[in-house]
Amino acid sequence: MRLRLGVLISGRGSNLQALIDAATDPAYPAEVALVISNKPDAAGLERARAAGIATLVLKPKDFADKAEHEAAMIAALESAGVGLVCLAGYMRLLSPVFVSAWLDRLINIHPSLLPAFPGLDTHVRAIEAGARFHGCTVHYVRVEMDTGPILVQAAVPVSDDDTPDSLAARVLEQEHRAYPLAVRLIAEGRVTVGGNRVAVRDSSTPDAVIAPII
Ligand code: GRF
Repeated sequence: MRLRLGVLISGRGSNLQALIDAATDPAYPAEVALVISNKPDAAGLERARAAGIATLVLKPKDFADKAEHEAAMIAALESAGVGLVCLAGYMRLLSPVFVSAWLDRLINIHPSLLPAFPGLDTHVRAIEAGARFHGCTVHYVRVEMDTGPILVQAAVPVSDDDTPDSLAARVLEQEHRAYPLAVRLIAEGRVTVGGNRVAVRDSSTPDAVIAPII
């Protein structure tokens, strides 16, 4: 049976789409079982519906507090038989209760090469810092925002005339490769988390990262 994914979104949902697209291959070992959004107008909801995937909108203000909101999310994920929760542009911080309920079964994609540039506006900050490389990270979620064991990273070069938008587009293209790869590694049972490090069985370690040519 394929690993069942619960994807949490707040907006566009292009990373959700990358996971949906990957799962159209019957050989891909995971499938999106449920998409939960905290925003009713998130464009990603339409992507899920178009693919025939169950969606759920849970607005925080419809609940007494954060604990109640998260309890509803946990109940929905459990009853959908979800084995891995993927944050894909989910713009709310998760509490320690949620993080421990899904410990090591909860991953996030972040648009920088962590631990550089946690938080928002990563592309602006990478350009302002004069970074020559930028990229994205798929990591296991821990309570502190944008921390946790790193599973997959992809690097792209920063060119002198990059704008935040041009750099974001180059990184996003890599996000759409990195997230399905990370999920596949987990679904194939090849990933072990130990402390702050992740070991991937049967992976070839390249001698160098070859950045795509612009
Ligand atoms: C992505 O850049 C992701 O890395 C970050 O939020 C953005 C979500 O984009 N966490 P999308 O909704 O997947 O298109």
